[in-house]
Amino acid sequence: MPRKIIIDTDPGQDDAVAILLALASPEVEVLGVVAVAGNVPLDLTTKNARIVCELAGRPDIKVFAGCDRPLRHELVTAEHVHGKTGLDGPVMPDPSMPVEHQHGVDFIIETLRSEPPGSVTLCPLGPLTNIATAFEKAPDVVARVQEIVLMGGAYFQVGNITPAAEFNIYVDPEAAEIVFKSGRPITVMPLDVTHKALTTAPRVEAFRALGTEPGRMVAEWTDFFERFDKEKYGSAGAPLHDPCVIAYLIRPELFSGRHVNVEIETQSELTRGMTVADWWHVTDRAPNAMFMGDVDAEGFFDLLTERIGRL
Ligand code: RIB
Ligand code: CA
Repeated sequence: MPRKIIIDTDPGQDDAVAILLALASPEVEVLGVVAVAGNVPLDLTTKNARIVCELAGRPDIKVFAGCDRPLRHELVTAEHVHGKTGLDGPVMPDPSMPVEHQHGVDFIIETLRSEPPGSVTLCPLGPLTNIATAFEKAPDVVARVQEIVLMGGAYFQVGNITPAAEFNIYVDPEAAEIVFKSGRPITVMPLDVTHKALTTAPRVEAFRALGTEPGRMVAEWTDFFERFDKEKYGSAGAPLHDPCVIAYLIRPELFSGRHVNVEIETQSELTRGMTVADWWHVTDRAPNAMFMGDVDAEGFFDLLTERIGRL
């Protein structure tokens, strides 16, 4: 029985790889893809989500536009990482599949109300604006969420957009606070784990060697995407953040972490968006998130390459 998921995303090259992985994997059933403003503005993340679904040969997937800005703050984007289009690297054709008319937040609410309770997993890959807005607009749906598996936050790896905060949480810290206080099971893929999933040259070549259009696209996206991180971290490749969320749904044993308390800084300008993880259990705050810290990187890339090869 495939696991029903909603992908909430701000494509972004790594989001794109995550969407391809989900669409190539029979273990998950993508009920819909909801775009959010993040890496680039909403009109581009909505366009990019459709480009990726068509690349996967899935123009039937329902793609929705969600919120175009965070709950409280001005939108902060990341063109410096993802390029002007958000999918820089290869030249991509404009999508021909439509955007659904329904607002993405209403799709999330309606789907949670119509699917059996506890049968839908939310997979946010960008700022948490859509998820938080759905929870605020329809509090009855919160209890119906099976699990929230998200990419965001950092503890030992500290920040990538400020010294204290990871981008997805930094863009909309109030939304993150709502999600982390929702009481639902949360599994977090922070920079602590995604920085161990690096697109080294052999791994990028393995995508190219698939000899397929999706394989070539993934290789060219990672070639583009990694220049920022290699320069910044001097690492042997870019961290492939968002596909960790989908890989966890397929092979959870690839990941390990700790169930800890995580709270979000929303008051301080200096540390806005910091995920304050009580990793050493120095407080009596109740654990509310499975905070991942390690990944079998070889196993992750073997899974990713094999699945992308199916498209
Ligand atoms: O900080 C990494 C996260 O920010 C990833 O989800 C990337 O796509 C960007 O949204
Ligand atoms: Ca993302």
